[in-house]
Amino acid sequence: MSTLRLGILCGCFDPIHSDDILLARSALKHLTLDHVLLVLMRSSSSQDCQAAEGDRWKMTVAACAGDQRLVPSRIALDASFSPRSAKEVLRLVKSSMPKADPVLLEEASSSAVRETISADIRASFASGRRHPALQPSVWEYCSALGLYHYPDSLEHAEAWIPELFQALNPHRFAHSLSVADQSRQLAVRYGADALKAEQAGLLHDCAKCFPLKEMQSIVLDAHASADPEMLSSGALLHSVAGACYARKHYGITDPDVLKAIEYHNTGYPGMSRLAMVVCLADYIEPNREPFPLLDEVRRLSGTSLDKALLLSLEGTSEHVLSKGKFLHPRTRDTIQWLRSLSETH
Ligand SMILES: [Fe+2]
Ligand SMILES: [Fe+2]
Repeated sequence: MSTLRLGILCGCFDPIHSDDILLARSALKHLTLDHVLLVLMRSSSSQDCQAAEGDRWKMTVAACAGDQRLVPSRIALDASFSPRSAKEVLRLVKSSMPKADPVLLEEASSSAVRETISADIRASFASGRRHPALQPSVWEYCSALGLYHYPDSLEHAEAWIPELFQALNPHRFAHSLSVADQSRQLAVRYGADALKAEQAGLLHDCAKCFPLKEMQSIVLDAHASADPEMLSSGALLHSVAGACYARKHYGITDPDVLKAIEYHNTGYPGMSRLAMVVCLADYIEPNREPFPLLDEVRRLSGTSLDKALLLSLEGTSEHVLSKGKFLHPRTRDTIQWLRSLSETH
C-alpha cells in the first residue's frame, strides 16, 4: 500500500479565510500531497480566540467542503493533552497515523501573516464591512450569528445553524449557507424581502439529506400535496419535505418563506420574486462545481432575474432529459411562463 502524503496546516481559524485555503491548495499541487489536514487548535493564553471552538470548527468544515482533498481535523481538539504548537501536532499525527507521511506546511512567518488577515477580518465585521478574503459560506455563518460583533444577525440562527450542521453533510451545509447569502444579495438587487430570502435560502435544503422514507413520512404526516412522481424521488420531494420540516421543526410560519422552500427546485408559474430569488440563488451560489451555462446564468443574474432563472431552468431541464430522468411538469410550466414574460418585456 502506498504511503499517504499529508500536509498539516494548523491554526485557530478565527475565522478561516481564503489565504488558508489557497496555502493548502498550493501545497497539494506543489508538494504532490494526497490531502491537507486543516488542524483546528485550541485557544491558548498566547492567542485567545474571539469565536467559540464550536463555531470555528463549523466554519472550518464549511470552508473545506468544496474540496475533498482538504480535510478539517479535530486531532488537536480531541487529544488527551492540548498540543500548543504545529510540531506537537506533527508528532501526534505521526503516532496516530503510522502509515502516513505528514509534513508541516508553514513557517512561523506565514502563520503570522494568516493570523493578521484573520485579525483584519474580525475588525471588518464590527464595521459591518464584508471582507473580500472570506468565503461566502463563512461570511454567512458569521453574519447570521452576529459573530465578531457583526452589527446585524439573523433571528433564530443560533438554533438553526447547529441543527443544520447536524442534519446535513458538510457539502450541503456549506451550500445552504452560500444560498442564504446569495438569496439575500439577489433579494436586495431585485426588490424582494432580504430577510425572508436569507431564511428560505438557509433552510431550503433542510430535508435534503434525509432518507426518502423519512421525507415521505414528513410530507404525509403534514398532509402536504405531492404527486406520485414526487413521492418516489428524493431529488424532487426534498423541497416539499423541507417546507413541512421547516414549519414543524424550525418554526417557520411565514407562507412566503415556506413557498420559496417548497418550490425551490421546480419553480411554479406566476412565482413570487422571493421564490425566484431562492431558486436562482440555489443554481448560481459560488460553491457550485462549474458546469455548462453556469457562467452565463451568473452573468445574466446581474441584469435580469427572469432571464437568468429561465436559462437556469432550461439548463436543468436539458440536463435531466439528457440523463433519461423524469422532468417534473411544473418545471416545464414554469419555463413556459418565464418565456411568455420575456416575450412581453
Ligand atoms: Fe434543493
Ligand atoms: Fe440547494
